[in-house]
Amino acid sequence: MAERHVMSIDQGTNSTRCILFDHRGRLVSVAQREHQQHFPRPGWVEHDAVEIWQNLRRVVPESLAAAGIDPEQVAAIGLANQRETTVLWDRRTGVPLGRAIVWQDIRTAPLVAELARRPGEDFFLDRCGLPPSTYFSALRIRWLLDHVKGLERRARDGEVLFGTMETWLVWNLTGGADGGLHITDVTNAGRTMLMNIRTLTWDEDLLDLFGVPRVMLPEIRSSAELYGDARALLPGVGITAALGDQQAALFGQTCFSPGEAKCTYGTGSFLLLNTGTEPVRSRHGLLTTVAYRIGDQKPFYALEGSIAVTGALVQWFRDRLGLISSAPEIETLARTVEDNGGCYIVPAFSGLFAPRWRSDARGVIVGLTSYITKGHLARAVLEATGWQTREVVDAMNADSSVPLKELKVDGGMTADNLLMQFVADVLDVPVVRPMVAETVSLGAAYAAGLAAGYWPDLEVLRRNWHRAGQWLPGMDPAHRAAEYENWQRAVERSLGWVRQ
Ligand code: G3P
Repeated sequence: MAERHVMSIDQGTNSTRCILFDHRGRLVSVAQREHQQHFPRPGWVEHDAVEIWQNLRRVVPESLAAAGIDPEQVAAIGLANQRETTVLWDRRTGVPLGRAIVWQDIRTAPLVAELARRPGEDFFLDRCGLPPSTYFSALRIRWLLDHVKGLERRARDGEVLFGTMETWLVWNLTGGADGGLHITDVTNAGRTMLMNIRTLTWDEDLLDLFGVPRVMLPEIRSSAELYGDARALLPGVGITAALGDQQAALFGQTCFSPGEAKCTYGTGSFLLLNTGTEPVRSRHGLLTTVAYRIGDQKPFYALEGSIAVTGALVQWFRDRLGLISSAPEIETLARTVEDNGGCYIVPAFSGLFAPRWRSDARGVIVGLTSYITKGHLARAVLEATGWQTREVVDAMNADSSVPLKELKVDGGMTADNLLMQFVADVLDVPVVRPMVAETVSLGAAYAAGLAAGYWPDLEVLRRNWHRAGQWLPGMDPAHRAAEYENWQRAVERSLGWVRQ
């Protein structure tokens, strides 16, 4: 009998990818398509949900063709997705009601300021594990209900559906307007500010507070179970997993035990620490989030340090400033100089996320003199990622009794050796990268394969994890301390730029 594979779909901020994995967790084929980023106003970021669905319709057959396999050889489909990005669509026609509002979009900042005063940050942290921030979906739903004419009434009448990207894609894959499933999983629902972090159900008080009609919300399911048949693209193949991409990466890095952590370096960077089967409340600016839930087993939770802008700063340097023509060139350019020349860039394009949660911050470049070259700027771009990681790790260490001893990393930016060395230097712990760097996709495949019986248990998955690279810390402690202080002084200058 022909070998079977698990199909993983990663619907990310920049692209939609379809990857096939074999039984040993090895990557068999990849197909990927980027979608357009829309920036209609300063601070606004939008995606076209139909373009994303069309991209998925293409990458699925492309990945099968690249692997030379038939649809019958797909054992199951798992989905991972950019989280919090919000799309509303017409239940009857399936047509989106405007563009999707992306997780980086900060148009809801005035609403955040209001929420932080009433009923206060602690209420939200206790109820949903999240502080009021432009980051989460509920504020975007509220914004749309307030700004699209007639939407509120239509939503209350049950004509409008809400989803994050996994919900939108599962709905389309399972038939769309013709009986498609309207579901989400606990990891994605937990990023809306509408899900109770303990009961894992929609919280009536939060729905009331945001004025979100229950009827527009999807059903919350576990992260790994049979949801339905992907009949629009691969009839007969079950969709058996969905996770937010960062939770999928935690799963793909096989961080199944409390105390295990990973950081994924993509558009933004996200450090997640598995904290076990009880939610842990952060006192230092981290999020409490669901890590995963397999079927009807107990859920696992994580503490998360979310950094909004890391790889996105490199993209900005490439696309908006035109100082490099491809992302990997940032390393070459940064290596033309010895150090940052006294220059620091704080990329608070979406305000600052963890651990500060300041929607009034905006980006700054400080320390400019006529000595500074584009090489120094390139260094400052990379170092911004290192220092932001350091701030999140400091918060994590302060929240947990055991300091981080090693950091598992993954994602596109881990190909940058200068950056990874800098991360090891500023954290003062070894940084390790696994053989399969596509851990988001791998994690969704693992969850789907477990639910479909393709893999028997977590132990088998653990045995697939192999170390590919390691960076050891080597920075002089006094130099590190002085540079960290400079970074923090630079951050101070970004705070409060927007008067709220
Ligand atoms: O919370 C946002 C995150 O899920 C986005 O991840 O890798 O698509 O930029 P990425």
